[in-house]
Parts: sequence; C-alpha cells; structure tokens
Amino acid sequence: MDTRKLSERLAEARQPHVLQYWDQLSPEEQAEMFEDLESLNFMEINKFFETAMKASGQNSQEKVDTRMEPVPREVLGSVTRDRECLKEWEEEGLRCISENKVAVLLLAGGQGTRLGVSYPKGMYDVRLPSHKTLFQIQAERIRRLEQLAEKQHSRKCCIPWYIMTSGRTMDMTKTFFIQQKYFGLKEENVFFFQQGMLPAVDFNGKIILEGKGKLSMAPDGNGGLYRALGTQNIVKDMEMRGISYIHVYCVDNILVKVADPAFIGFCTLKGADCGAKVVEKTNPTEAVGVVCKVDGRYQVVEYSEITLATAEKRSADGRLMFNAGNIANHFFTLTFLKEIVRTHEPQLQHHVAQKKIPYVNTQGQLIKPDKPNGIKMEKFVFDIFQFAKTFVVYEVLREDEFSPLKNADSQDGKDNPTTARQALMSLHHRWILNAGGHFVDENGTPIPAIPRHGPAGTVTPEVSQKCLSLKDGTDLPIKCEISPLVSYGGEGLEHLVNGKAFQPTLVIDENGVRELVKNGL
Ligand code: UD1
Repeated sequence: MDTRKLSERLAEARQPHVLQYWDQLSPEEQAEMFEDLESLNFMEINKFFETAMKASGQNSQEKVDTRMEPVPREVLGSVTRDRECLKEWEEEGLRCISENKVAVLLLAGGQGTRLGVSYPKGMYDVRLPSHKTLFQIQAERIRRLEQLAEKQHSRKCCIPWYIMTSGRTMDMTKTFFIQQKYFGLKEENVFFFQQGMLPAVDFNGKIILEGKGKLSMAPDGNGGLYRALGTQNIVKDMEMRGISYIHVYCVDNILVKVADPAFIGFCTLKGADCGAKVVEKTNPTEAVGVVCKVDGRYQVVEYSEITLATAEKRSADGRLMFNAGNIANHFFTLTFLKEIVRTHEPQLQHHVAQKKIPYVNTQGQLIKPDKPNGIKMEKFVFDIFQFAKTFVVYEVLREDEFSPLKNADSQDGKDNPTTARQALMSLHHRWILNAGGHFVDENGTPIPAIPRHGPAGTVTPEVSQKCLSLKDGTDLPIKCEISPLVSYGGEGLEHLVNGKAFQPTLVIDENGVRELVKNGL
C-alpha cells in the first residue's frame, strides 16, 4: 500500500482532507479506503466539477428557455395521427428482430431514492395478482416478442438484454436474476455491466466523506452509459452479435414496450440514427423532461432545468408548447453509439444536482444536513441527441405506454406502486374488451363496459380517455392481469376471451384463463 504516493496525488488535486481520519482507521478500513481511492482520478474529478459548474451557470434556466424550440412536425411520428402506418412499422421492426439485429439495453443503475427501497427498483413488486416484479415483466415481454418474430418469419431469433447496473445495484440485481433463473431467458443472452461512480463534492469542489474512511459516492448518471459501453466492451459484444439497433429504456415504467417493433420500424424506415419516444405532456409541472431543440440541436430539457413560465407556454391550439414528454425510451443505431463512444463521450458534460449530502464533521460525527450542502454530478442518457444526423420523435399514448414507478405509496400520490398497478390492469382490461370479452360482478350482472369505438385490436383515443377516468378510485374496479408470455401488446386474445364473461380477478397466463375469486384462489 503506497500511501505516500496516494497522499501526493490527493495533495496535488487539492483534496488532502480526504485522508484526515486515516490514523483513526483500523488496518482493514485503511486497506478498503486505499483500494477505493486508488480507483479514482482526482484531477479528472476536479475537471468534471469545473466544467459542470461552468455549464450550469451558462445553461441557467432563463438562458436555456430563450433558446428552446418545439420539435418540428416533420420528425414526428404518432400512433394516433399516423395510425395507417402502424402495421408497416411493426412488421419492419419484427423483421429486424427476426434477423437478430435488435438488442435492448436497460438502465438500472439508479438508487431509487424517491421510492425509498434498499434494493434495485426492478425487483419491486407492485402487488399485481401475479406479484411479478418489473424485471420479470420486462423479461417476459422479451420472450414473447422473440416468439412473435419467430412465428412471423419462421426463423429462431433472440433479443439480447444488456443491463446497466451500478456499484449500488450490481450484486443484488445479478443474484436476483440467478435466483429467478433469468425468468426463462437464456443466461448467455443477458449481460450485466456496471456504470461508473463519482464522489459527491461540496460547492467548492471538495470531496465529501460520509464516513471517516468512506467517500460519499453515487452513480455518474444514466449518461454514464456511454463510458461504460466502451470500458466494459459492450459495443464490441453487440458488434460480434451483428446487432444494428438498440432500444434503451429505464427500469421504472411498468408499461414499457421493450424492443417495441413499431418504434424500431418507425425509426429504421425513417433512416434515423437516434430516436425518442414521447407522450404528450399536459401538466406543466409534471416531472418529465421535454424533447425540443436548443440552438437548433435536439435535446431534452429536464424538468429540473425548465422555468415554470416556459413549461406553461401554450400553442394556438391550447396545448403546451413544449409537450413532447420524454418517457426515457430511446432508439440508437450501433453505428451512432460507436461514434459516441469513440468521439463524443468526453465532450458530454455533467449536470449538477444540488443535494443534502450526509457528511462527517471535524469531530468525526455523521451530520445529515437540512439544506443542500453539495452537488452530485451526473451525465444524462439523452445528451447525445445533439450528435444525431437524423433524429426522430415517436409519440405514443400515455395510458398505453407510460406509468413510471418513482415514489412510495402515499395519499393522492403520483407515479407510485398503486398507480403503476392500476395502469397495467387498466390496459389489460381494455385488451380484454377489444378482444370481445367482458366482465360481470359476483351476481353475474354485466359490469358496464367501456365503449369500443374501433375495430377489435385497436384502442382509439376516445376509448383511452374513458379508461383513464377509471383511474380516479383507490383501486381499479376491474382487476385483471395478462401475462406478457400470452400477449405483448393485446394480440392473440380473441380465441381466449371473445364472447365470454369474466368475474374479476381475471388472470390469463401460460396456465390458461382463471377467475381467481370464482375459483376460490
Ligand atoms: C428520467 C428522465 C426524464 C424522463 C423521466 C420519465 C433522465 C436523465 N431523465 O427522469 O427526462 O422524463 O425519466 O420517467 O433520463 N439510472 C441509472 N444510473 C444513474 C441514474 C439513473 O442507470 O446513475 C437509471 C435509473 O435506474 C432509471 C433511469 O435511469 O432506470 C431514470 O432515472 P431517474 O433518476 O428515475 O430519472 P428521472 O429523474 O425520473
């Protein structure tokens, strides 16, 4: 353990305070701290701090606001306005999948602070009838999609799943997948890799200690992906497998259409190297970033970085001017990602988040501050949009595709386990109705059905709107859950439900159609 060299490095980087409790540490603690510090480049951390602070000054909210423009219509595809193209897009996406050209990449390195659990968010059970976790739901959607592509094109295929974790989530995530036998996926098609971590610093750039021998470390943001793609040889692996297109998404959206063929087909047919899925933002204060142009280049202006005045601006039609709500579902070509990793990654700047960061004081006691005392530095996954040559935006319906799990349950809360569960069951309820089934109560009386405005298999905005109104109770009136192994997006249900009446709770899975209450389950 060359501690002299380490103290020199720290002194040179103006961070010598990091070792102030060194003599009070046990030999084991010293060894652990030494190992942690050896892996860090302090000069680089100082540089990150300087550029991040400078950028946050230059990109102050007012300054960004004046340079924002909405997404132009010509780059926009929409599941409602372009309904006649959906089939073509979907078929194209399925073809790409069947040729083993599509991979999915899950961003799962976050700490889930708002949800308040000590384990990775993907392991969360929102109390569906099946008690499936977010990871399981996503894995089963991948399996079903592989089957659909195989059936359509009569060839075996696979969608590799790359899962980015962090120092905070890696071990638990991996162990969970092993315990759950990879949810039926082949182990060799699921890859875990780890993003980087950075120390939190105070407003002068000094590294914060959360223990006498421990730095306060946090993942370097979901844009840490691009460095990790290079350092962990992920791009190489994708290349070896012949992957051309990658769907990148966040772990917390229970409705996520993993490797959505229509989105992939839309992006590839438009010749895009980069695409973003959005839903219409209707509430100015909703915590979603907005896809827009800044200084003529595509970007997401994060909810924490837009002023209320700009968020509230409306167009002539009464809709929010900046209404392309980012749902953290992105499309990239491998060629584009390779270019980012090779050339642009170092140019991506960290964003600054002011936080209350627990620290040890000069007496060595742990203090939990009640106001922000430092910053965390994070890169964002969408910061590479600016480098796209052909950028497209794909608008989908919120009630079909977006219900994120951010917060713990609380009264009149938002984006919590209850809203996530309700959103999934509401979607599945609509699938049953669209496939010709309906529900009855315990006396056999039909439960008023949501009117169907379109042919079976389609969900019109009118239907969606009606279904949304079901969300206002504490729980949905209709409890039903359809396994992704049976249906990916509402397909293939007619032969199971058409013309039939069901009593909730209805579960349709690989074991068949079951009414849990009626069957005493
Ligand atoms: C994110 C988007 C926001 C979007 C919203 C929709 C970013 C930067 N912001 O916001 O524009 O409107 O989702 O729900 O993408 N993660 C990592 N490593 C990290 C930090 C996060 O992998 O260091 C992952 C998380 O596990 C999660 C995802 O990134 O899957 C999003 O993180 P979160 O902090 O929840 O983002 P939001 O602030 O909700």
